[in-house]
Amino acid sequence: MNKNQKFAEWLELRIPYDAKGRNSTVEASCQQYLKKHKSVKIVDLGAGTGANCRYYLSKIFQDQEWFLVEQNQEHLEIGFDRLIVWAQENGYDSQLQDSILVIKNEVRKITIHRIVGSILDLENLIDLKTFDLAVANAVFDLFSEKQFQTLLECLKKYQLPLLATVNYTSTNFIPQSEGDSSFVEYYNQHMQRPQDFGRGMGPDCGDSIGEVMKRIDMKVIQGESPWEISSSDPVFLQFMLKFMEESIPEILEEATLQHELNTWLQKKQQMIAQNQLSCNVTHQDFWGYWE
Ligand SMILES: C[S@@+](CC[C@H](N)C(=O)[O-])C[C@H]1O[C@@H](n2cnc3c(N)ncnc32)[C@H](O)[C@@H]1O
Repeated sequence: MNKNQKFAEWLELRIPYDAKGRNSTVEASCQQYLKKHKSVKIVDLGAGTGANCRYYLSKIFQDQEWFLVEQNQEHLEIGFDRLIVWAQENGYDSQLQDSILVIKNEVRKITIHRIVGSILDLENLIDLKTFDLAVANAVFDLFSEKQFQTLLECLKKYQLPLLATVNYTSTNFIPQSEGDSSFVEYYNQHMQRPQDFGRGMGPDCGDSIGEVMKRIDMKVIQGESPWEISSSDPVFLQFMLKFMEESIPEILEEATLQHELNTWLQKKQQMIAQNQLSCNVTHQDFWGYWE
């Protein structure tokens, strides 16, 4: 399994946690806004393998046209395969022509386009003035505040509202044990390490997204979207530890801390194997629009 396929596996495992966590008040505000539209045209930013699109397909009752914008081509290819399976399982016919997927039943037609490119180049990828809504799930913690503001300034030109869900804010293992606070802090700091574009918002995105939205005059509805990962899901917990194991060493200042990290990871692995570890991960959802 290559790196993209492994990441695609993780994106699929997240789906039930995202679905349960998504904030119903934030989501209902967006659905209310969509009611006035006969059909809806939506861009999914950082679409990955299409999980966000699949989630909304049965929550939106009009005909839909989707544009999945994603920088990783293989994610989009896997995403289309998964959309075709979704169509079969949900009683839709599907037809793939060139890079456009049409899924239909007696009452609804859904057209899905895949666009390989960067969200930061959005205006050059699609004709934003024809869209009704932008959505993004689990994406903006990767962005710097400046990049996010530039994106919103672009959406503002077209008065395009944004539903941004499952934006990471913290990780809390249960029970807490020695080392948790410092290694979770390293993990969070890794998301905010200096990169060529600046620093990702990481766990601050819960505050920053709302602030930037308000700064550029959006009305904002915000709410929590937590994950509660039980000790009976070792596969998911192991994925989380793997992300920590791979990222934290990149920012450890002292070699001795690597040994402490290994010991901490080993202890966590033992707890997972004995079904003694669970975890809460907090996130924030945002519905931002212009009046
Ligand atoms: C955590 S995944 C979430 C995927 C999907 N939204 C979901 O809910 O399953 C973040 C995705 O954002 C994509 N991404 C990050 N920065 C991007 C950018 N500048 N332009 C396009 N895609 C980007 C990544 O390649 C990755 O697929």
